[in-house]
Amino acid sequence: MSGGAPSAGPGGGGTPPPGPGVGGGPASAGPSVGLLAGRRVVVVGGASGIGRATVLAAAAAGAAVAVLDADAAGAVEAAAEARSAGAGACARGVDVTVEAEVAGALDAVAAELGGVDAVLHVAGIMGGQGLDVRDVPVELWARVIAVNLTGPFLVAKHAARHLSPGDGVLVLVGSKAGVQTGSGSVPYGASKGGLHGLALTLARQLRPQGIRVHALCPGDIDTPLMRRSLDEARVNGTDGGRVAAIEAALGRPEDVASVLVLLASPVSAGLVGTVCTG
Ligand SMILES: NC(=O)c1ccc[n+]([C@@H]2O[C@H](COP(=O)([O-])OP(=O)(O)OC[C@H]3O[C@@H](n4cnc5c(N)ncnc54)[C@H](O)[C@@H]3O)[C@@H](O)[C@H]2O)c1
Repeated sequence: MSGGAPSAGPGGGGTPPPGPGVGGGPASAGPSVGLLAGRRVVVVGGASGIGRATVLAAAAAGAAVAVLDADAAGAVEAAAEARSAGAGACARGVDVTVEAEVAGALDAVAAELGGVDAVLHVAGIMGGQGLDVRDVPVELWARVIAVNLTGPFLVAKHAARHLSPGDGVLVLVGSKAGVQTGSGSVPYGASKGGLHGLALTLARQLRPQGIRVHALCPGDIDTPLMRRSLDEARVNGTDGGRVAAIEAALGRPEDVASVLVLLASPVSAGLVGTVCTG
């Protein structure tokens, strides 16, 4: 474990029905002021943790928000919270590993929002924390790669059809793990390294169309994923002192969310490439 990305942590360390209005509600509300005023923002993985904080931060910054997540009920709750803060918000259940669901959900929310200015892809999973490579089941490897690498590919593929040319933004949330450091999980570190390469490749391909693409690489953040990951590290024999040190230094989801809001805003038009947070 090193730097801001200790190896026990993800930062360095049921398919829901695709029908419309999974807790939808009006996707537009009254006029608002803020960094994202008038912007239509999709948060993929917005039901929990960093994604949930991002939904609320985008709403507070004036965006109309669509929340997509495999946890359809959680997505509905997050959208309801955004609406009670005065934002337009809708929600849909989607498994990012299933192309038809990703395509259908993005088509539906683009219609509901009247277009899409930014897609913030936050969804991800952790697994195999603390496992020796000799003990990593190929099924676990395949699942983590499917969600953490094929998922962002599918979201990018279908988001690119909708993002506004000229000032569209796509952010893929990766990790410092697999980019600046190793990871305590073999598949997780590999998936996040792959996501980083995907974002750099898309940034070059989509830039001529006026679509800005970033990889955002957080350090270790206090979320349900992180708490499960620390538990798994302990069970798999990672030194308790190292796990406790990570636990004591966790960052807040809100601090990543505010950077995602900034990236989704046109004020970040001059930013290029990879962005890291603590
Ligand atoms: N928490 C950290 O320390 C940390 C550090 C670096 C990077 N990250 C990354 O940040 C992102 C968010 O993580 P978090 O810690 O907030 O986790 P979290 O578990 O709190 O939230 C992840 C969300 O992704 C959703 N999701 C999982 N699989 C999905 C699928 N197949 N389709 C659609 N949605 C799915 C979950 O339902 C959940 O709402 C992840 O990509 C994670 O790898 C987290």
